[in-house]
Amino acid sequence: MALSVIILAAGKGTRMKSDLPKVLHTLANKPMVEHIIDTVKQINCDNVHLVYGHGAEQLQSALQAHSVSWCLQSEQLGTGHAVMQAQQHISDNEDVLILVGDAPLVSAQTLTRLVEVKAHCDLALLTVNLDDPTGMGRIIRDGDNITAIVEHKDASDAQRLIKEINTGMMIMSGSDLKRWLGKLSNDNAQGEYYLTDVIAMAASEGKKVQSAQPVWEREVEGINNRMQLASLERAFQLKQAENLMEQGVRLADPARFDVRGTLVVGRDVSIDINAVFEGKVVLADNVSIGPNCVLKNCEIGEGSFIEAFSHIEDAKVDASCQIGPYARLRPGSDLHPGVKIGNFVEVKKSIIGKGSKVNHLSYIGDAQIGEAVNIGAGTITCNYDGVNKFKTQINDGVFIGSNSSLVAPVVIGKGATVGAGSIITKSVEDEQLAIARGKQRNISGWQKPTKK
Ligand code: UD1
Ligand code: CA
Repeated sequence: MALSVIILAAGKGTRMKSDLPKVLHTLANKPMVEHIIDTVKQINCDNVHLVYGHGAEQLQSALQAHSVSWCLQSEQLGTGHAVMQAQQHISDNEDVLILVGDAPLVSAQTLTRLVEVKAHCDLALLTVNLDDPTGMGRIIRDGDNITAIVEHKDASDAQRLIKEINTGMMIMSGSDLKRWLGKLSNDNAQGEYYLTDVIAMAASEGKKVQSAQPVWEREVEGINNRMQLASLERAFQLKQAENLMEQGVRLADPARFDVRGTLVVGRDVSIDINAVFEGKVVLADNVSIGPNCVLKNCEIGEGSFIEAFSHIEDAKVDASCQIGPYARLRPGSDLHPGVKIGNFVEVKKSIIGKGSKVNHLSYIGDAQIGEAVNIGAGTITCNYDGVNKFKTQINDGVFIGSNSSLVAPVVIGKGATVGAGSIITKSVEDEQLAIARGKQRNISGWQKPTKK
């Protein structure tokens, strides 16, 4: 049967105390509502309707990569009223899965369970048992069948003891949904059109209402404030940490570890505390990541060491390299096997050949460096004239003396040497020695200045 999804995301999220709409607050660096859209893409769903209200422009620009149908709810009169904004797009003979935009971690596996339960009944609800159900809608049962949801504010003392709660996620046929929406009223404690009232309508028509439970209890947690968001973020990160440890990764401390994207690992990878991985990061066998490193969209080759406080983005590090501590590899850095990049070295859009070393305090930008090159401390490639960028080419076996400036465009030929402190403005041929610096004078009998 065809399946449409409605995501309710019009609420302002007052308790976030933010100018950003609640559903755009991020978990693992991705907006909450985008987590849901990505998950929904994994189940076989034909249309996604997003009910939005606050922050329309921010939402539309944040989600422009996704094809969703936008349903405006200009006044937030309740979850039932929110669903009404999408009903014109719903056909009778499809199933409609309703999700909430502020429960970002619901999994495809859980949604599939819910869809499967619906296949054998008329309305399926995703419910969970909570030790502290305060504030949530309570599930009222008559044996196996669910007969109503009572919102916390409308519940009697006896009903408030019920621990089984509504996650806000449910599925039913389009024709049932539309018929029931037409009968909702706002005669309740909050003066809202409650979507949850459809449960009692279904029961009174003799329909079968059943429930499914999530694979992981915390995945259905809804976010209302920043404490809940931080708590769910930590739970999510811990889960990712556990998955990686199951795959054989050594984590110094799973509580101080963040993956904000995907991390692909080989065997015997070791990760020290406070590492942050963003986008897609691939670590080959025997890679070691030191404490406090940030790695974003990069690949690290077999046996390479990334030492403490290094920052790597959109870069490729081949096997057996040693990076850092305190190194920065910026976009377009391509390091061949056995390269050493030491402390306070910045590399950008440069290829560094096999076994070459840039050990201390250098800037290497728009450069092509051959094999077995030694770049002395404090070397700078002067790649920018204020308007244009130029290339520096350093061929195999070159030795660059400390504190040299290589004013691009310039080529240093194979096996050449540049004397320390040189400012190189002209290319150097193979095997030459280039020295370009003021000549030293030693003056005898120099009188030191005296205090007046
Ligand atoms: C709702 C459920 C409650 C459930 C809880 C789970 C109702 C009446 N209650 O309560 O049973 O236990 O979720 O978290 O459905 N929204 C709109 N437009 C509106 C109102 C809400 O789009 O007019 C969206 C919100 O942006 C949010 C979702 O619907 O994503 C849930 O709304 P919220 O106000 O948080 O509902 P609860 O009171 O928590
Ligand atoms: Ca809520």
